[in-house]
Amino acid sequence: MDENLMLLRQFQMEGGKKYADAAFAEEFRNYQQVHNIYMGAIREIRARLETLDTEFQFRHKHNPIHHIQSRVKTLPSIMKKLSDMGQPMTMTSAKKHLHDIAGVRVVCCYVDDIYLIASLLLSQDDISLIFEKDYIKQPKPNGYRSLHIVVDVPVYLSQGKVFIPVEIQIRTVAMDFWATLEHGIRYKSSDEVPAFIVDELRNCADVITKTDAKMQEIFKALQLLNDKEDDFQWHGGEE
Ligand code: GTP
Ligand code: MG
Repeated sequence: MDENLMLLRQFQMEGGKKYADAAFAEEFRNYQQVHNIYMGAIREIRARLETLDTEFQFRHKHNPIHHIQSRVKTLPSIMKKLSDMGQPMTMTSAKKHLHDIAGVRVVCCYVDDIYLIASLLLSQDDISLIFEKDYIKQPKPNGYRSLHIVVDVPVYLSQGKVFIPVEIQIRTVAMDFWATLEHGIRYKSSDEVPAFIVDELRNCADVITKTDAKMQEIFKALQLLNDKEDDFQWHGGEE
């Protein structure tokens, strides 16, 4: 939280004095409250994902989830986004206009696992889909691929239940590798990334997509083989 405060002070100084000190203190307090509640929503989603993963491993001897990351957007990042959007820089406005204050990234092993996890989560009757962007079926022009869903999840507070939106990005290890490095490259270059690098990155994304499809095929072939083996042992054991 201290880091947030420091970053916000820095933003306040660099970004021009957008608030008076009192308003600043008030928004910081509001942020702390929002942070707690949105953290609750993240914990809820993470618990459900972990339960699904463990159960799937028990039933099918496969963990669809490789790992999960999550974060609540920092206050400076919230303020910057609101400012870029031309919206009021308050937490009330943030809750209204931003759907990615709470973010969860689910990194899966195979492409099929992405859709499996999304459908299992969305089939839970107290979770509702707000919107979906399928950047796997329709990748971004730069080659970015992931399935994004924004869901409303119930969080129980002392005063009752509230529904909180959480942005969930679901991708394979391979897609995550590309997105992480691409983000780093974009972040590092002070100017626009040169066109030839953009092309190279898109080529890498295409290679990765082919590799993802190949790995999925290998996994399916192996599963089929294991199923046959189980079948054989079962019949053998019965005699
Ligand atoms: P943001 O303002 O970045 O949240 O974008 P948006 O509200 O238009 O949503 P979008 O679905 O485009 O992106 C949401 C998030 O997905 C981003 O904050 C990134 O974490 C990730 N993302 C989207 N596009 C890219 C991309 O081209 N490269 C990488 N590395 N990540 C991306
Ligand atoms: Mg975002």
